[in-house]
Amino acid sequence: MPEQDLLSLQPAHLRELQARYERVLAAEGFDSLLIASGAAPYRHRDDQAYVFQGFGPFLHWTGLTGQEHSWLLIRPGQAPVLWLYQPVDFWHATPELAAEPWQQVIEVRRRPEPGVPELGATKRLAVVGDPQVLEAVPGEHNPEALLAAIEETRVHKTAYEIECLAEANRHALVGHQAAARAFLQGESEFGINLAYQQATGQREADAPYHSIIGLNEHAGTLHYQYYDTCAPQKPRSLLIDAGVRYRGYCSDITRTTAAPGEPRFAALVQGLEALQLRLCDMVAPRVDYVDIHRKTHQGIAALLSASGLVSGLSDEAMVEQGITRAFFPHGIGHFLGVQVHDVAGKPTPPPADAPFLRMTRTLEEGMVVTIEPGLYFIPSLLEPIRNSAAGQYLNEALIAELSGCGGIRIEDNVVVTATGARNLSR
Ligand code: GLY
Ligand code: MN
Ligand code: MN
Repeated sequence: MPEQDLLSLQPAHLRELQARYERVLAAEGFDSLLIASGAAPYRHRDDQAYVFQGFGPFLHWTGLTGQEHSWLLIRPGQAPVLWLYQPVDFWHATPELAAEPWQQVIEVRRRPEPGVPELGATKRLAVVGDPQVLEAVPGEHNPEALLAAIEETRVHKTAYEIECLAEANRHALVGHQAAARAFLQGESEFGINLAYQQATGQREADAPYHSIIGLNEHAGTLHYQYYDTCAPQKPRSLLIDAGVRYRGYCSDITRTTAAPGEPRFAALVQGLEALQLRLCDMVAPRVDYVDIHRKTHQGIAALLSASGLVSGLSDEAMVEQGITRAFFPHGIGHFLGVQVHDVAGKPTPPPADAPFLRMTRTLEEGMVVTIEPGLYFIPSLLEPIRNSAAGQYLNEALIAELSGCGGIRIEDNVVVTATGARNLSR
């Protein structure tokens, strides 16, 4: 969507937020709400601060990820007021806001001090944000029921939010193509990261999460966090899980590439991708997300059987005996928004057989979720299977061969529409 069209959707998004927040404030008995953007704490006994990305509710309204010490006041029937911290500072730059349509809805005031602004008269004020910046602030801090209610306002994305997420996907996909090319040219994890950053025009500090880039065995560590500067002697596989932020909104995409000369691993990647696309097709209103997770286990069992990794056991028994969980230990996905693992996904805890599932709700129009099945060779998870009666069904020779490729994950970002789904990552 052209940028001007996307920007023109933002005022309606803000009016919808105003209506949602007014309902929450009325229900919780507050007449005003102050949202703190937050500030990066300093490292202990150091003059260097941690990376800052802003508090979720502040991003939901403004999308401004880099604005520390800023405040947003919401009151029923009145325009929101945004106090932007703009110090006179010759050490750092103070970027100016581009003139955009949202500034007709939110009143912007600039101030050079970091502390809380003068709010005017309030009857019952709630303040939400990082407790570290709220010390001298009046009002009730982070009331639990109010926080839960405003997190619920993030569950159904507006048209503006969906277009921001689509844009975040579009940018990330360019990066993923560049990363795959770099891998096939023999680059190291570090070099692949540079290629991703170059293609997305996004520095690490601004990414929605630390990009996961694993070659060979490293692909089998779910959130592998280092970048080797040397490529392995024989590059066999690349798993890259990386996103982009666009106006505060995150993409969260994973792709796995088999090196030429790895036909068995390539076939497994192909099989998992076919399963992933079928799971994406399940996304629709009234579908229980936990069912998609359970279908994933059935699909993984079928894949283990078809590839010969496990034989002599029915698909049902593979799931029941925990074999599929050893190969696919995480959940099928989560909500996505201004936080990569967006809030309010678990009003009920996950079932005992899916302890890491981050989303347990029934899908409704406007929700945005990830669909991210995986199949990994993780020694610490395979060991207990090996040492149990089920060990006899494992094809150890094939597992040993493919363990050097680490694992596979394929992840897309999917919007629930009125009649089905829109996949933003394809
Ligand atoms: N990038 C982390 C995740 O996929 O949840
Ligand atoms: Mn991911
Ligand atoms: Mn994810």
